[in-house]
Amino acid sequence: MNRVRKFFSSGFWSLINPTYELKKLQSSKTYNMETHKQLVIGLFGFGVVGEGLYKVLQQTPSLKAQLKKVCIKNPEKKRNAPASLFTTDKDVLLNDPEINVIVEVIDDADAAYEIVSTALKNGKDVVSASKKMIAENLPALLGLQQQTGQSLLYESAACASIPVIRNLEEYYDNDLLHSIKAIVNGSTNFILTKMFEEGLDFRQALMLAQQLGFAESNPKLDIEGFDAVNKWTFLLTHAYGIVESPENILFNGIQNIQAGDARVAKEKNHQIKLVAQAKKLQNGKVAAFVLPQFVKQDDHLAFVKNEYNGVVIESGFADKQFFYGKGAGSFPTASAVLSDISALRYQYKYEYKKLYHHKPHELSQDVFLRVYVSFDDLQLIPRDRFEWLEEWHAQEERKYLVGVISFRELKENTWWKENNTSLILTPDPVIEDVEIRKLKKKSLELAGII
Ligand code: HSE
Repeated sequence: MNRVRKFFSSGFWSLINPTYELKKLQSSKTYNMETHKQLVIGLFGFGVVGEGLYKVLQQTPSLKAQLKKVCIKNPEKKRNAPASLFTTDKDVLLNDPEINVIVEVIDDADAAYEIVSTALKNGKDVVSASKKMIAENLPALLGLQQQTGQSLLYESAACASIPVIRNLEEYYDNDLLHSIKAIVNGSTNFILTKMFEEGLDFRQALMLAQQLGFAESNPKLDIEGFDAVNKWTFLLTHAYGIVESPENILFNGIQNIQAGDARVAKEKNHQIKLVAQAKKLQNGKVAAFVLPQFVKQDDHLAFVKNEYNGVVIESGFADKQFFYGKGAGSFPTASAVLSDISALRYQYKYEYKKLYHHKPHELSQDVFLRVYVSFDDLQLIPRDRFEWLEEWHAQEERKYLVGVISFRELKENTWWKENNTSLILTPDPVIEDVEIRKLKKKSLELAGII
């Protein structure tokens, strides 16, 4: 009998009765509901995203997160929530010991940094959607996270509803990321779609993007590429461990794109998109930029319309993977904020694996880009600074060329975005230094010079 009891008290019983193991775990100290931290939230901002989050939280009771107070700037504005929830005093939230999570969704980057850094120092975890603030203060925010041990999550700050940061951190945590290219700004993608597929003019399309709550309060940030490069700055940190300030990354927006460019795109069966790209080079460094680009119809990004965003990741063994989802708007952004809040229940933190656990990559300027440039006045285009020209159309009212130019030339000069000049990358625009040298050698050989 004793032998039988011993037999059943051994692992055999758990094998034939799986609930046995679970019950054993539940009763043991190792399975502890306390690992799901109780969250008491202080929210900064009740605009498009803040109000969206308020509604989303109400519809997610399973999260058991209590929204205790909301700090707003303008007390006169009518709010769709009980007046007792609001205050204009930030310290009411930042100094409340019961509040253990600060969610910050305001669009003043300096004020946001003040709030986030104080909250971390006061022992609170933080969820932020402020891409400009994060991009401009990344080194300091990295330091604060290390110093305080608190968690700062910002999945909603890039590509809104697409879980790109957590995937780069957790899934692509190794060194095999060959390239990443993405549409990271919903407003510009919305405007390009409405203009070139539905015939709206730029103003109408922008107004619609503003009405729908996609555009920044200063839409210049969207149109001129600032928002996209800000997002790209910290996506580069999670993808490659690169910590750079946004102004060191080559970028432009869609402000110079002309109707003539759309005509050329149509002739070539391409679309024009604002694309953020990073590519690992043979020298181990990374070329990164945010520029308008001709996208072929069979490119995953051609599928991304309106306020949607898309990310194509190319890794060592998996080849290409495509993430797609809404990149702007109240609920899509609130959904990512909610996911970060939920992750805080089990004390999730970014480990910045590529930065701290691997050898971080460096940015390289030693590459060449194949570009299309359209212009009004030939005199303003330094033709001699191109490595070579592949197309030249000087007869049209709007002239254009296609050629290969060094990345450094674009980084160090501004002629290509002034005087009504429009520069658009061709598909697969990156040409490596070694390839250029090979091509030049070959042409000299063909010419019988060497
Ligand atoms: N203005 C931003 C965009 C909002 O259009 O993508 C989301 O970050």
